[in-house]
Amino acid sequence: MKGLILAGGSGTRLRPITFTRAKQLVPVANKPILFYGIEAIRDAGIADIGIVVGDTKDEVMEAVGDGSTFGVDVTYIEQEAPLGLAHAVKVSQAYLSDDSFVMYLGDNLIKEGITPLVEEFRQTRPNCQILLAHVPNPQMFGVAELDGDRVVRLVEKPKEPATDLALVGVYMFDSTIFEAVNAIEPSWRDELEITDAIQYLIDHGRGVHPHIIEGWWKDTGKLQDLLEANMIMLDHLEAHIEGSVDEESTITGKVVVADGAEIRSSTIRGPAIIGRKTRIASSYVGPFTSIHDNVLISGSEVEHSIIMPGVRIEQIGHRLSDSLLGCNVKVTKTERRPASFKLMLGDNSEIEVV
Ligand code: G1P
Repeated sequence: MKGLILAGGSGTRLRPITFTRAKQLVPVANKPILFYGIEAIRDAGIADIGIVVGDTKDEVMEAVGDGSTFGVDVTYIEQEAPLGLAHAVKVSQAYLSDDSFVMYLGDNLIKEGITPLVEEFRQTRPNCQILLAHVPNPQMFGVAELDGDRVVRLVEKPKEPATDLALVGVYMFDSTIFEAVNAIEPSWRDELEITDAIQYLIDHGRGVHPHIIEGWWKDTGKLQDLLEANMIMLDHLEAHIEGSVDEESTITGKVVVADGAEIRSSTIRGPAIIGRKTRIASSYVGPFTSIHDNVLISGSEVEHSIIMPGVRIEQIGHRLSDSLLGCNVKVTKTERRPASFKLMLGDNSEIEVV
């Protein structure tokens, strides 16, 4: 069995972060989302992984390399334009050949991993196994209608969903899927939808097995979802302190302080992670916060946020929360008159002031 991870797409709902970075490389608990998917596939006993890449292929290739650091063998497959998930399968046909495979959307996170699900697929051998989850907003997803244990209908982002069962972004297929992806037509949004390809399998009497997952799952396409994913994954970490913490600092709860980090006269309340060579001075870092490498936080308070590498936050008078700051962002107190907010923001930035 092989793995196929989809790491193309433009990530419009995460702009401006995704103007300069692949959405799959945004860090959750200081680790790119994509790495969780690679590890989940590897842990399910699959060593050959194809990664479908688009415009951001250089960054993805630089971050993942040949896969050896994960103990897998990665092959990159170029998709010339984001023409849909079924199109990604189509362009991967030569790589996948006659093998069955697990397809994993690179921005999805499943807390429990996929090992028992892959095991179930291997034992029961349907043509396709889909994962479903109950969600409060099914119109944002592919939605399934079941009749007992049988999938009757799948609709991509229906305006009036028939059920609350969303398609999770992890699918298992045997090679019959190629007949389907080559037969279907583009949807209203001009994409070859994997949902339509699976419907084709159903309509042609193939075995499509649904598995409803009960554990935590997230499609991290939006800021709120990313912050929630960050909370869940931080809670999963094992506390350890490698960096230096002075006597005037207090660390409580589950906290990781990476090698070379310095905590001075500060309070860190976990779950939280502080990256390498980051300095926190006279500050408060609250629960559910990921501070990446080479960050400086001084005289400030931050919680429930994701702070990417190279950020500087200095002497700000209000607590920063529910935020995602991209690489090298600076948030500092101004002494210059007029005493006003002075901003230089990229397109589609979002600021909420108090
Ligand atoms: C895609 C699929 C959708 C599925 C979702 C899961 O949506 O088309 O059926 O429910 O992933 O993350 P997209 O992220 O392309 O909007």
